[in-house]
Amino acid sequence: MRKTLITATLVTALIAIHAPAQAHQPVVLLNSDTTAASGPLLVDGTISFAVRAGFTKAGEKKAFRAGFKAGDTVAVQLLILDKKPENKLKNSQIPSVTITSPSGKSTTLKITERTKFFEPYSATNYLYLSRYTAPAEAGTYNFVITGKSKAAVTVAVGDREVQGEVLRGPAPTVAPTPTASATPAGYTMEQVKANNTKAKCWSVINDSVYDLTNWISSHPGGAGAITSMCGTDGTSMYINQHKGQSQPASRLAGYLLGPLAK
Ligand code: HEM
Repeated sequence: MRKTLITATLVTALIAIHAPAQAHQPVVLLNSDTTAASGPLLVDGTISFAVRAGFTKAGEKKAFRAGFKAGDTVAVQLLILDKKPENKLKNSQIPSVTITSPSGKSTTLKITERTKFFEPYSATNYLYLSRYTAPAEAGTYNFVITGKSKAAVTVAVGDREVQGEVLRGPAPTVAPTPTASATPAGYTMEQVKANNTKAKCWSVINDSVYDLTNWISSHPGGAGAITSMCGTDGTSMYINQHKGQSQPASRLAGYLLGPLAK
């Protein structure tokens, strides 16, 4: 039984600071993540992520991608919160999840259970609805979640309890920034300072370390605002501009590397 699922409804930065390293990394799908290509990419799908998708009505779609290598295992679970209104929904009202492999084989998760599960780090009660495990094909899997009513689900992917990388925005034209491994306490300011260019841009916001490299060219407020944060603690710049705004906060969550070591 998995013990480390963490709710993706909490603020990512807070989780990064307070949760132990083995917690599932939360990823919240945005309303603009309507196709797998426009949704976030979990670079390594064997690392544990908790992808949260909320819907307001039937027919809405949210999607993401996850990368696997030959020999990996694709491990996916579908969960809902064990509280009203989610736990009162019929199976036909729960969002469906279709997984398509790199070679085009599609599987729609079947709801086969309602097993209670208490997630200790966020003190949240969940219900397992479906669990899927298969040997991976090498390449990118697409996950498309379709709403059937007003409801939210969590799709748990992967089980390796290490920091993973989530890419957002247009597919990078350069190879993704290699992620140096974190110390048990998190990433150091020295590591952040070493990633101070357009080609490798890390920044600290509220004691969490973010890899903003792929956001530079996508930022609606201009590349310069982001490049001026590379290699520094960008908290005050970010707060001065975006305090309390949900869009920048959810974008930022997609670039989280992990906590800043103290
Ligand atoms: C990692 C840090 C940042 C993230 C994730 C971020 C994200 C975003 C997002 C998502 C928007 C679009 C908001 C919307 O359409 O509602 C936006 C707009 C904007 N951002 Fe940022 N931002 C960051 C840092 C900054 C900084 C440091 C500045 C300035 C110093 C800045 C200046 C702006 C401006 C001026 C806009 C409005 C652009 C427009 O609508 O024409 N941003 N940002």
